[in-house]
Amino acid sequence: MAPLFFKVTLSIVVLLASLLFIPISCSHVFTPIQTFSDVDLLEFPLNLEYLEAELFLYGTLGHGLDEVAPELAEGGPPPIGAKLAILGPLVKDIIFQFGMQEVGHLRAIKKTVRGFPRPLLDLSKSSFAKVMDSAFGNPLHPPFDPYENEINFLLASYVIPYVGLTGYVGANPLLQNATSRKLVAGLLGVESGQDAILRGLLYERRAWKVHPYGVSVAEFTNRISWLRNKLGKEGIKDEGLVVNSSYPGNILAGDEYSLSYPRTPKEILSIVYGSGNESVPGGFYPHGGDGHIARSYLP
Ligand SMILES: *[C@@H]1O[C@H](CO)[C@@H](O)[C@H](O)[C@H]1NC(C)=O
Ligand SMILES: *[C@@H]1O[C@H](CO)[C@@H](O)[C@H](O)[C@H]1NC(C)=O
Ligand SMILES: *[C@@H]1O[C@H](CO)[C@@H](O)[C@H](O)[C@H]1NC(C)=O
Repeated sequence: MAPLFFKVTLSIVVLLASLLFIPISCSHVFTPIQTFSDVDLLEFPLNLEYLEAELFLYGTLGHGLDEVAPELAEGGPPPIGAKLAILGPLVKDIIFQFGMQEVGHLRAIKKTVRGFPRPLLDLSKSSFAKVMDSAFGNPLHPPFDPYENEINFLLASYVIPYVGLTGYVGANPLLQNATSRKLVAGLLGVESGQDAILRGLLYERRAWKVHPYGVSVAEFTNRISWLRNKLGKEGIKDEGLVVNSSYPGNILAGDEYSLSYPRTPKEILSIVYGSGNESVPGGFYPHGGDGHIARSYLP
């Protein structure tokens, strides 16, 4: 009896303490803590899945959802500037499979929740060039072109699935029901697989100098990851392929326990808009994301 009594007492104490502390900690937060429904949290990642599907399909086929699975685009505007990338056979094969995986993800999400049509996506060379210029803090000459060669396309791809991965890790504990968590776990598994393959391919070439910039592949990944940390504004949740520690190799990103970092929709929007502000669309989403969460931040 005694241990149970202690447990109950302890829970009550913890409960009371949390009731006391929540308002105190809230007073430091300027916006109210938002809670989103499972439907909102499941719809939100469609924004990223559409982007990945189009980038990977266009990069390997020269066309995207409008040809491969038009019903999923639901009449949303075609992506700006996406095109066939110059890739070797192995990377082309892998990225094509990623593209088809994203088609599956779009189907899986839309089978569970209503979702929304494809938002306007800017996948043009200049959109990626802007990301790289921000990552380096000054313009690259010539501007970075993701479609020009294989290493550039891999670096451009490094920009995306990892953000989706952190979003799924962040969403999971907020989901109320098992159906939603099952879906998110399934999406997370494949998304992290994609990130791992991209990192593996890049890691093998980490010492290569990216032509004509003379900057190593590892340095590119570090710069991109730092940029994401800066835009997300929530500390370190992103790491390149090489870190400053006694063992520099960093094939996968993870916290001190090697657990994947979580990100909130707000952080993700701040990153993919390139603005550092979830209310200021831009970057890959000229008109912002869709779904209740993304729209709730738009003016
Ligand atoms: C669980 O969430 C899904 C997706 O939002 C929804 O379709 C389903 O009705 C929910 N199930 C229960 C039991 O609430
Ligand atoms: C490691 O530290 C050096 C010296 O402070 C710095 O120039 C370099 O950018 C750092 N690299 C990483 C990956 O943090
Ligand atoms: C984000 O943008 C909105 C809309 O322009 C602005 O009101 C808000 O102050 C910005 N937030 C930050 C932290 O700059």
